[in-house]
Amino acid sequence: MTTVNTNIYPEFTRMLGREEKEKFLNQHGLVIWLYGLSGSGKSTIANSLERRLASESIFTKILDGDNIRSRINSDLGFSDEDRVENIRRVSEIARLFYETGIVTLTSFITPNDNLRSQAKKIIGAENFIEVFVKCSFEVCMQRDVKGLYAKANDGNVKNFTGKDSGFEEPADPDIVLNTEIESLEESVDKLYSFIKPKIQYNA
Ligand code: ADX
Repeated sequence: MTTVNTNIYPEFTRMLGREEKEKFLNQHGLVIWLYGLSGSGKSTIANSLERRLASESIFTKILDGDNIRSRINSDLGFSDEDRVENIRRVSEIARLFYETGIVTLTSFITPNDNLRSQAKKIIGAENFIEVFVKCSFEVCMQRDVKGLYAKANDGNVKNFTGKDSGFEEPADPDIVLNTEIESLEESVDKLYSFIKPKIQYNA
């Protein structure tokens, strides 16, 4: 998919850098990468954490699968190849945000280790927090907030994650939020405590 244009000359040094931007935002940029099955609670947690951070004047941006796929990634579907391209583009976008000092919360299924490594590589390990939002297929199916599990059961959703497209449990996430056991408040508290020291500006 990627073509290399030899007549492109990227130049970043004249631009106001990340450090200056972080200084006036009084925070450190970071990407908090939430992943897990559809309906596991990623977006709910991201939205709740964002409001909590906003109450402390921490500047954030949410990148959410359904939103991104309805606009910039509207040309992509759910084949393995399209998921790779989806995550590649989102990782590049997340990079633009954290380089501007913004705390960036992403909410994408990111169903396998390859995709998670790809995101981590583009974003850089030191800027990347891997958050597994754990919830079984069965419980997500019971919740079925969007009605997609019912549609998939009727055979009306192709490559549905957890059904005819795989979801790999992660080997080593930075943090696991088990939404089958924890309340929303508990999950958000856990995540907040984990990320707060990393975004705190102490210069
Ligand atoms: S990812 O696998 O490429 O990371 P992403 O998070 O962007 O997926 O999109 C998932 C969202 O798209 C789901 O929350 C759901 O609302 C919707 N969706 C539509 N079709 C599918 C499908 N076949 N598999 C999973 N999610 C789907």
